[in-house]
Amino acid sequence: MCGIVGYIGPKEKKEILLEGLQELEYRGYDSAGIAVIEGDKLHNFKAVGKLENLREKTKNYASEGFGVSIGHTRWATHGKPTELNAHPHLGAYSYVVHNGIIENYQELKKELQEDGISFLSQTDTETIVHLFEKYHNAGATPFEAFQKTIERLEGAYATLLISEAAPETIFFAKNGSPMLIGFGAEDVYFASSDTPIIGKANEVYYLEDGEYGYVENSTVHLFDANGEKTFVKQPLIADKAMAQKDGYRFFMEKEIYEQSRVMGETMMGRVLEEGIVLDELEEGFFDGINAIKICACGTSYHSALTSAYLFERLAKVRCDVEIASEFRYKEPLLTKDTLFITISQSGETADTLEALKMAKRAGLKSLSICNVDNSSIVRESDTAILTRAGIEKGVASTKAFATQTMVLWMLALYVGQQKGTIDQPTLKQEIDAMLHTPKALVVTDALHAKLHRLSKRYLHGHGFFFIGRDIFYPLALEGALKLKEISYLHAEGYPAGEMKHGPIALADSELFTIALMPKTMHYDKIKSNVEELSARDATICAISPLPFDLADDFVQTTYSSHPMVEFFEMMVVTQLLALEISVRLGNDVDMPRNLAKSVTVE
Ligand code: G6P
Repeated sequence: MCGIVGYIGPKEKKEILLEGLQELEYRGYDSAGIAVIEGDKLHNFKAVGKLENLREKTKNYASEGFGVSIGHTRWATHGKPTELNAHPHLGAYSYVVHNGIIENYQELKKELQEDGISFLSQTDTETIVHLFEKYHNAGATPFEAFQKTIERLEGAYATLLISEAAPETIFFAKNGSPMLIGFGAEDVYFASSDTPIIGKANEVYYLEDGEYGYVENSTVHLFDANGEKTFVKQPLIADKAMAQKDGYRFFMEKEIYEQSRVMGETMMGRVLEEGIVLDELEEGFFDGINAIKICACGTSYHSALTSAYLFERLAKVRCDVEIASEFRYKEPLLTKDTLFITISQSGETADTLEALKMAKRAGLKSLSICNVDNSSIVRESDTAILTRAGIEKGVASTKAFATQTMVLWMLALYVGQQKGTIDQPTLKQEIDAMLHTPKALVVTDALHAKLHRLSKRYLHGHGFFFIGRDIFYPLALEGALKLKEISYLHAEGYPAGEMKHGPIALADSELFTIALMPKTMHYDKIKSNVEELSARDATICAISPLPFDLADDFVQTTYSSHPMVEFFEMMVVTQLLALEISVRLGNDVDMPRNLAKSVTVE
């Protein structure tokens, strides 16, 4: 997730910006940059990679006197991590930094290009600065030009803009991406989270969606759709560790809560009313492709398993999935009409990378679904679709799984569209459901409190079985993996219909069954599977929108319109259950024993 800092005041600005960006390093980034205007002097520095590179480039520079300044750490989503794509982006006389995604940037870019403006970067952000200058050049005051610019933007943004046209002003706007204003004794700060301003500002105002304005001479002018407004500052909390986690106890918890928002970003510009648009795939990408093979490890393997149901059901394309470490040594038969997909959060998992190299040697077309641009797997693939989850810190993957699954679902629809194997009403139904998923991912206080309460009954026992059917089987595998990873309790995911072929022998009151019982997918079948377990005295925790009498514990879900919406809501329940059990057991939630976030060895 990108990071923003801004400063307006008399102090030395380079250090404030660099220190601020350093405090945002935990959010992950692949390039960074700053821009400063002091009087009529404009300075801009950018560097790829770590902040030390930017520090090195700016070592002979220090700002003097009053000025305005902005800085940014970038996590690539539109365009590679290069210096040209790093923020701040430059127009003819203005600079902009931005977090989020401008959904309609292509349309805006085309319009600006038709006006003769040339773009230096591949980013969506650059459109903001050119739009601003276009309106200003046409006679608008700088603030009017900024207002008009904001009105044109669709999507999510937190943005700061500085311009020689108003050298003592910072313009700001927020919609969907976080940003705050910090207040010191004689100066004003901006940041995308508290950490950069702790120790510098004493008070803070957290901008709301739709708010924008400008700061001039330490005075903040704040506007929304109804015009200028007043606002109330709050004292700033000073606990950096808490602030990094946005007030949550663990990164994993923060990441579970973030899922609703990042899912919106994953879909932005890709899920449209009329269909799925994936700019990453050139026209005809699926020509000659008759089958899909997916390789991945761990959680990514579970998203792959889920997608195999979707590719076959929705796109009518044969799809099989393999664990990368198994695939490598089985002497697989590969045919050139197969698209080879790798899925990886980190893009560095050694087994997945090697599987990809094997497929390439066999002449297969390759696509990766990944969270980290320019990672080894992305570089090695013919093309990549980024999941846009932002950096994931918790070792136990949550939002990466959610966004991978979403990208795969989109891809299944895209393949169906391209091949003409999906009909219009089905496509529409799927898209409607997709647009509902962010809602299904919202963690309510009531749900979290319920799982906290319930977790105390699941701290022992001789094992957990997570059971489900169809796409809820891979979700059961993932639920069990989450629990294993952070609670160290034994848990297995199993297809519900298969329990009677062996595992049911384990059933007694100390066997905990977490039953995924969606209304929209084989409800009666799974109900009888759970009844069989209940009859043998297994302890049942049922997750379902439909009340179930035989459950010892019951978590009632809210959505029952579409299997994938149910899938995502149940996913959140299993993540929170694992989290709460782990907390009660006193484990290190974010860094569980024996595990690593990225496994770069075989
Ligand atoms: C490790 C991590 C897992 C992850 C797996 C695959 O085992 O602990 O959380 O699912 O690697 O990682 P990838 O980055 O390729 O998705």
